[in-house]
Amino acid sequence: MTQVRANRQRGYEMDGPSGASSEDGAELVLTRSASPAMARVLELVREVAPTDTTVLLTGETGTGKEVIARQIHARSRRAGQPFIAVNCGALPAPLIESELFGHERGAFSGALERRIGHFEAAQGGTLLLDEVSEIPLALQTRLLRVLQEREVQRVGSSRPLPLDVRIIATTNRDLATMVQRGELRKDLYYRLNVFPIALPPLRERKDDLEALVRVLIARLRPALGPMHGAGEDTVRLARETLSALHAYDFPGNVRELANVIERALVLSPDGVIQPEALALEGGRVSPWPSPRGPVGSAARDDVAIEALEEVERRLILEALDACRGNRTHAAARLGISVRTLRNKIRVLRELGVAVPAPPSGGATARGFVPVHGAGGGPP
Ligand SMILES: Nc1ncnc2c1ncn2[C@@H]1O[C@H](COP(=O)(O)OP(=O)(O)OP(=O)(O)O)[C@@H](O)[C@H]1O
Ligand SMILES: [Mg+2]
Repeated sequence: MTQVRANRQRGYEMDGPSGASSEDGAELVLTRSASPAMARVLELVREVAPTDTTVLLTGETGTGKEVIARQIHARSRRAGQPFIAVNCGALPAPLIESELFGHERGAFSGALERRIGHFEAAQGGTLLLDEVSEIPLALQTRLLRVLQEREVQRVGSSRPLPLDVRIIATTNRDLATMVQRGELRKDLYYRLNVFPIALPPLRERKDDLEALVRVLIARLRPALGPMHGAGEDTVRLARETLSALHAYDFPGNVRELANVIERALVLSPDGVIQPEALALEGGRVSPWPSPRGPVGSAARDDVAIEALEEVERRLILEALDACRGNRTHAAARLGISVRTLRNKIRVLRELGVAVPAPPSGGATARGFVPVHGAGGGPP
């Protein structure tokens, strides 16, 4: 494990890729935490992981629910088996049933082949029901039955198949309130809420900030390689940079921190991150600094800005890809408004960049889509 060389006078120095792998860092952040709230979470994870107990992970967007879900799977006896993540907020309603439970050939018009559903695909392993609150009421009874009986019936089949699947669900909504409002079945709520783990927002675990920054630098820097001076292997944070990070409250949590660090790395080709490279303004991030705004010395501006636009373009396309073109979801993921995203897309299109089309029918806000295939791997 590489140590952070802390020097309170000069700031922080962090080893680059040759010194620390992101594996090391991820392990560090997930095995111990300097923040009591997160330390408690990690303790619960260690306790529940080896069991088959259903886990409900709650927490604001970007707090690491999926990271923790993968960690639970990795520490379970199911580790060598599939980890299937299903985003319950992302596929047209008519397909949900067949996506989740599968269908037989000829089960409905258009069902030309038999199809295995996500439950069956997770056989022997773990199924992550991401954003479980988005499951339509009409389907909740069927889901409850599958969870209770531990068997699944493909659409168009009368033969139940026994299931050996560990369930992890995530939500960033208050499920109890949804039950009160009649949006979520009470019995399904109890079935899911067996072992709840609440992830603290980043603003309540600032003690982990340095460790997280180190992990993120180790993870992000290799991909930005050419932008950094040849032979330079250390990223340094000015002391004021750390203070600025500590003063900011990160509404987008660890995901936002990752974006801030990536942007800062791009804007710091000499490997020294100054506070202005964080683009934190009066405690608030300006998500996309104005292309003509003052950033560092005039001589550095052009390079940095070109690189920034490149990163921005990549982040937008990645977000749209991950959200199957859904503008609302992509904007939320990026931490910008839908309107800003649309404007950016328009500019990209004018520049001739191929941007994924929005999903047809506008029905994708509800439904299911696999966000990751079998096998797991890092998030
Ligand atoms: N402990 C950690 N160590 C390293 N990276 C982390 C950690 N926690 C979260 N991250 C990173 O933060 C980002 C968001 O994490 P994740 O997708 O798990 O959040 P989430 O709670 O599922 O968010 P959402 O509710 O928006 O789906 C990811 O890029 C993830 O790699
Ligand atoms: Mg998630």
